[in-house]
Amino acid sequence: MKVLTSSLYRKLLSLFPHFGKSPAKGSNLNPCHRLLRKYFCYKAGVVTAADLVNYWQGVFEVNEIPEAQASSEYIVSHVLGAKTFQSLNASSISTPLSAKQQEQIQQLCAKRLQRMPVQYVLGEWDFQDLTLKMKPPVFIPRPETEELVSLIVDEECRKRSTSANCKHPQLSPENNGLVILEVGCGSGAIALSLLKKLPHVSEIFIYDNNVERPATASKRLLHLQDRVKILHHDVSSSSWECLLPWGLIDIIISNPPYIFHEDMTQLAAEILRYEDLGALDGGKDGMSVIKQILKLASYILKDGSVFLEVDPRHPEMVENWLCSHPDLLLFVSATHNDFCGKPRFLHIQKHEGENNRRY
Ligand SMILES: C[S@@+](CC[C@H](N)C(=O)[O-])C[C@H]1O[C@@H](n2cnc3c(N)ncnc32)[C@H](O)[C@@H]1O
Repeated sequence: MKVLTSSLYRKLLSLFPHFGKSPAKGSNLNPCHRLLRKYFCYKAGVVTAADLVNYWQGVFEVNEIPEAQASSEYIVSHVLGAKTFQSLNASSISTPLSAKQQEQIQQLCAKRLQRMPVQYVLGEWDFQDLTLKMKPPVFIPRPETEELVSLIVDEECRKRSTSANCKHPQLSPENNGLVILEVGCGSGAIALSLLKKLPHVSEIFIYDNNVERPATASKRLLHLQDRVKILHHDVSSSSWECLLPWGLIDIIISNPPYIFHEDMTQLAAEILRYEDLGALDGGKDGMSVIKQILKLASYILKDGSVFLEVDPRHPEMVENWLCSHPDLLLFVSATHNDFCGKPRFLHIQKHEGENNRRY
């Protein structure tokens, strides 16, 4: 047993190089014994979803992979065709898995061991009521951004409820033709969600680099291709003629890169290794793309609004910046907190009576 144990230990070490080096926090069991116990159970042939969730959770913990349990549960559930472990019924959890399923789980978990975000491991992720394609390095939509979408839908609904019967979240057909511009669409999460919730909106994307495939795939899957235009455009470039065919824009939305450059090194390995850092790095003050969006807004915004997701330090900075740029004719009309209570969303509007002055 001693020989077998040490050879197995070596095998585990070769599979998981960090194995044994740093014990899982809060665990009373020696990680070697814990893994061995799970390994024997795994090899016995009768391996259930619950066994594999436990097994891979242990492997992730030993290798210090964040969110070990959630990662393991998502991967096992995905191979079983479910979104979450909780949504599996008792029989799915206890039925022995096929060799193919075990192999698939092993392959996906090996990616997670390389710190690949679970969203990329699965190749898809839910955002509000949509399932979007996820492929590195396209930005993975964050939960706060779901709040940004809800904020915009609520605001649109509120605006129109005085003139029409608003049956939230669907808007009435007379709002046909609302043109929205999203700067930096990533996976298409914001725009596609809004199109689903606001049925008569036309949507335009501006996009700076060549990673639009997931957005394209998602819009096809969701049958939204007729209402989405993807434009390759860097908002920092002074030319915005490509937008002229749509005339003035009703609403501009963006979750721009807003992380202060000096904070970039603090990001998790998952982000630094796999996501496009250009989607996150907002320059020295986190405002380089925000300022470009506001400049663009002063030209192409009708009498509508700009909605931005920002760093909690930004609301005050944006307000000050707009005060020092009165020529842009914009002001912060509201700041909204995210679910952690941090000021995260800005509602910016044009000063009344200034429509079209600069167009
Ligand atoms: C934080 S991500 C947001 C993606 C998506 N809207 C979301 O919320 O999941 C920022 C996006 O802006 C794009 N981006 C960065 N700089 C840009 C620029 N100068 N012009 C246009 N888009 C830009 C990035 O490629 C990235 O897709």
